[in-house]
Amino acid sequence: MFDPTAPIGVFDSGLGGLTVASAIAQRLPHEGMIYLGDTARVPYGTRSPATVVRYARNNAAFLADAGIKLLVVACNTVSAQGLGGLADGSGIPVVGVIRPGARAALDASAGGPIAVLGTQVTVRSLAYEHAIHELDPGRPVHALACPLFVPLVEEGWNNHTVTRMVAREYLAGLAGTEVDTIILGCTHYPIIRGVIAEAAAEVLGREVTIVDSATAVADQVATLLGEWGRGAPVTAEGRRRFVVTDAPDRIGAAAAQFWGGGDAPTFEHVDVTDRGVGATGTG
Ligand code: DGL
Repeated sequence: MFDPTAPIGVFDSGLGGLTVASAIAQRLPHEGMIYLGDTARVPYGTRSPATVVRYARNNAAFLADAGIKLLVVACNTVSAQGLGGLADGSGIPVVGVIRPGARAALDASAGGPIAVLGTQVTVRSLAYEHAIHELDPGRPVHALACPLFVPLVEEGWNNHTVTRMVAREYLAGLAGTEVDTIILGCTHYPIIRGVIAEAAAEVLGREVTIVDSATAVADQVATLLGEWGRGAPVTAEGRRRFVVTDAPDRIGAAAAQFWGGGDAPTFEHVDVTDRGVGATGTG
């Protein structure tokens, strides 16, 4: 028998996905949640697609074993490889971050080109180009890989001179374009939104709109649970559990800023490496 109070599972390579988890918790406070950050293997964005898919399957299998009712892939790098194969045969619906982000950018844009900032794996996959062109075939898209942003954010260097220099260097790739909207195509980047906005304004000589997918994903989860009739009752407690695959004691301060407001989550350690091994699917 289906249990509507079963938790929503959310995973990311590290702590960045907490920006999405937090948006879901604010939107749906009575829903339970298990957040998994694969801190032992972060970053994913510089690895091969095959390795990213293998890690993602381990994470999804861990969460499926924990009894989740819905899986949210709060990682662009994983979502960019496609969501097929992650929860096949389990009946668990899977929500990624790319389509909601693409939709949010098109809604925010005044009709100009859209820029996507993401990890190397995300940019090489062309997933954002495909998602945007499904909705608006002619829209120009400029994608920039920004691999140093993730370690800088995980290190807490959110307003650091080095991060500003790196942002200026990356955003220089947009010089001379008519870009009016930038998608933060990595769940770590909302933490340095201000630094990115500043660098973009410097390079382009004007303000641009900056969007991320956290709110759009939370809306999609709410819609999906509503249509499916499997949302938790409003009287439910909404219990949340946060787990990581390495060093739970090292991440308190960083986690607090990703979670943003309210009580900072506390983490326990889990091992996911042997989960879902042998699973089939196309990734
Ligand atoms: N936060 C992840 C994303 O949204 C990737 C970070 C990484 O592991 O490289 O793409």
